[in-house]
Amino acid sequence: MKINSVEKYRPALHFSPKSNWMNDPNGLVYFKGEYHLFYQHNPNDSVWGPMHWGHAVSKDLITWNELDIALFPDELGTIFSGSAVIDWNNTSGLFPEGDPGIVAIFTHHLDRGQELPPVQTQSLAFSTDQGRTWKKYDGNPVLKHQTKIDFRDPKVFWHEQTNKWIMSLATGQSISFYSSPNLIDWNFESEFGEDIGSHVGVWECPDLFELTIENSNDKKWVLFVSVGDNGKTEHGSRTQYFIGSFDGSSFKPDNTETKWLDFGKDNYAGVSFSDIPMEDGRRIYLSWMTNWRYANQVPTDGWRGQMSLPRELTLRKVNEDLLVVQKPVRELTSYFQIREEISDLPIKSEHRFELNESYADVELTIDNTDAKSYGLKIYHTEDQYSIISIDTVTSTLTLDRSNSGEIDFSDMFSLPQSLTLNGTEKINLRIIMDSSSLEVLVNDGELSLTSLVYPDKTCESISLFTTNGQVNVIQGKIKVPSV
Ligand code: FRU
Repeated sequence: MKINSVEKYRPALHFSPKSNWMNDPNGLVYFKGEYHLFYQHNPNDSVWGPMHWGHAVSKDLITWNELDIALFPDELGTIFSGSAVIDWNNTSGLFPEGDPGIVAIFTHHLDRGQELPPVQTQSLAFSTDQGRTWKKYDGNPVLKHQTKIDFRDPKVFWHEQTNKWIMSLATGQSISFYSSPNLIDWNFESEFGEDIGSHVGVWECPDLFELTIENSNDKKWVLFVSVGDNGKTEHGSRTQYFIGSFDGSSFKPDNTETKWLDFGKDNYAGVSFSDIPMEDGRRIYLSWMTNWRYANQVPTDGWRGQMSLPRELTLRKVNEDLLVVQKPVRELTSYFQIREEISDLPIKSEHRFELNESYADVELTIDNTDAKSYGLKIYHTEDQYSIISIDTVTSTLTLDRSNSGEIDFSDMFSLPQSLTLNGTEKINLRIIMDSSSLEVLVNDGELSLTSLVYPDKTCESISLFTTNGQVNVIQGKIKVPSV
């Protein structure tokens, strides 16, 4: 990946494939000093097609080096989403003793023509050379189902407490859990999801992991479930999550409320890294930064698809409720330098900051004195802008990208994206801008709104504005590229 790239819409900080199509992140795993990012990839076209696993590695989660394709279709089908783990104790017997390697667990998707439904099964591949070359397991598939058609996206982890592998699998509009001693033989444990959560679309790309509650030693299990686009909602595809407990067999949610991971349109199929060392202890996820509604139409040339920034996850108690909190990883810091620091800056109607950079990170803590609404106008160019506005009457934050540049490839793209705030007197806003995206984080990662934009330039200037009243920027930092 090139930082400060000149190709139109090509992100500087976000991973995008050199050419052709990319969707979900797959097989996120850390091993021997490298983060591996595999991804759904069509190497022959810049629209979705026969899926392969593309591959990139990074030492710091930000600069990625694209490698050769890892997994190619075979007689069992094309290669749909899945995960990767390090088989430290060689439970699979696939590695020489004392030399553990990576096992990929993925869905084989077999099309059988017009008359018959496709068949989805789970299979294994393994690598003894840090993911550079792969062998498919001879006994594939390792898991099939007699009747389920949507049976995919295995996410596997080692469950310490019960000493076995657990697979979360998307099975129609539910998540099924399977267990295994060796990654090869799988037993059904339980099924979750009927009568709970959003069922507007097919359930996809689950991920189950434990998170610590901030400022405590308490932990909870969190289940991510992406919900596909049914073509009818205003939102398209998006990701929900559940918080609860997991005993090695079944997941029990603490409550029945539907919680969304992100309030923008462009955060889908997010899953977390496996095998990040205990000393590090972070749970980091990244997602495919687009929406199935228009993913095949976004106006990039010769390549399509980009990932969100990797984000560290925690849980936070907010008004007696628990929320998943997400913050872009700290590795991002070295890609920025501070251009301007702000403190106690009253805004009566408008204040402009010049920017003119290929990417930027703006963080503002704003105290509202008496404004009815306030916010930021991001001038990508003089006549292309995105508006982030906070309405203090309705307690909502809205991102309006209807004038942000190219928008006419989808009817849904110009619709406003909003979230409800827990209060508007004081708000902390962080906006990371890249060539074709805005990642908005509210109150130190408590709420997130991820959105693509297609302007001619990233950002010329930012204007802080208020209507009917005044706000005070208590603190602010405007960060620009360090290189
Ligand atoms: C999610 C998804 C997965 C599937 C993959 C196919 O975006 O539909 O369920 O495995 O994409 O590319």
